[in-house]
Amino acid sequence: MKTYLVTGGAGFIGANFVKYMLSKNGSGVSLVVLDKLTYAGNLKTLETELTDIKFIRGDICDAKLVSEVFTNYGIDFVVNFAAESHVDRSIENPQLFLQTNILGTQNLLDCAMKSWMIDQMYKKDVRFLQVSTDEVYGSLGDVGYFSEKTPLNPRSPYAASKSSADLFVQAYVETYQFPALITRCSNNYGPYHFPEKLIPLIIKNILEGKQLPVYGDGTNVRDWLYVEDHCKAIDVVLHNGRVGEVYNVGGHNERKNVEIVKITIDHIKNLMENNPEYHRVLKTELSNINYDLIKFVKDRKGHDKRYAVDPTKITTELSWYPETKFEDGIVKTIKWYLENQKWVEDVVSRDYQDYYNKMYLW
Ligand code: NAD
Ligand code: DAU
Repeated sequence: MKTYLVTGGAGFIGANFVKYMLSKNGSGVSLVVLDKLTYAGNLKTLETELTDIKFIRGDICDAKLVSEVFTNYGIDFVVNFAAESHVDRSIENPQLFLQTNILGTQNLLDCAMKSWMIDQMYKKDVRFLQVSTDEVYGSLGDVGYFSEKTPLNPRSPYAASKSSADLFVQAYVETYQFPALITRCSNNYGPYHFPEKLIPLIIKNILEGKQLPVYGDGTNVRDWLYVEDHCKAIDVVLHNGRVGEVYNVGGHNERKNVEIVKITIDHIKNLMENNPEYHRVLKTELSNINYDLIKFVKDRKGHDKRYAVDPTKITTELSWYPETKFEDGIVKTIKWYLENQKWVEDVVSRDYQDYYNKMYLW
């Protein structure tokens, strides 16, 4: 049986990946999750999986701990989700992003290399997948797409740290023939998304009758992909992708931010009108849920205008394509939040309120 080291597996995409791998492989897979449990990681998210995985609380920057994990568990595959992932936080505190996203990744690469190298040769069938982002390519104008050949042009401290990590991964491939691959995905949405990112924050605020902060004029565009589709892409690239290659992952689902906010309002209203049992999660009158909640606020510094991914390579080489239509995915996501308010309460119980007040006190 193969053993996977899933770093950052208590965060949004990492936890969805753990759930996906267990539901696909059952007891035929061994998963070791290493997570520091920052504000963004929560064991509640893995509550039902904890008996089926090995969970280790720790930092990917900790060389001694990471080496021990490789020795003790005989890791075959690494999927590196661990990161500081929020652009707004990177604008406030870039240093932390360098620490985790660059130095942490380099430490993982080093520990994997030392553990996998025997007599100048790598063990058979070992692989390292770096979970990267389309943000490394920078910002697009009204037309065009990011392909794997688009030059890196990061524009936020977060994107710069992810680009730098990608360059280290590629340097290890070239210098040490290290068996690594990179995926660069567009914006994910779905269950267990921390409510500092656009969609879960908007859902939370709508249910509380709070204003919905839209940066600038709301015309910035993101390409939204249902998180399970991203997890499937990672699985297929890890096993069938070509070592040393980059694979873009995207949903061909470009939406303006203000459009996302309006769609979310419409669906919540509709779900409430047709399902009175959901009223119990409302902290406002149903009549207050309308577009008047939208508030255009000060723009994000250096706000990237448009992201759009060309996923031709992963589609043609590996037969991956997005399975969840946005219209279905967004309803599934909203329903999940309506039915899992306890999870939201749990994950915002730490520094969330201080963060919210700092970022959104207009
Ligand atoms: P997230 O912030 O929800 O989760 C990150 C996880 O990493 C958390 O569980 C956190 O506790 C853990 N972590 C942070 N620092 C750590 C450290 N030093 N050591 C160990 N664990 C640490 O992030 P996410 O949205 O799930 O993103 C996961 C990865 O996917 C990131 O690398 C991100 O750059 C990338 N990505 C995200 C998106 C998206 O839309 N969310 C899209 C493309 C790529
Ligand atoms: O493209 C992939 C990236 O998507 C990932 O690499 C990042 O980890 C992930 O956080 C996400 O980055 P974005 O900056 O695009 O996501 P966010 O949800 O923060 O913002 C989406 C858009 O909505 C962006 O244009 C900013 C805007 N926005 C965001 C927030 C939090 C608002 O208008 N208001 C808000 O309150």
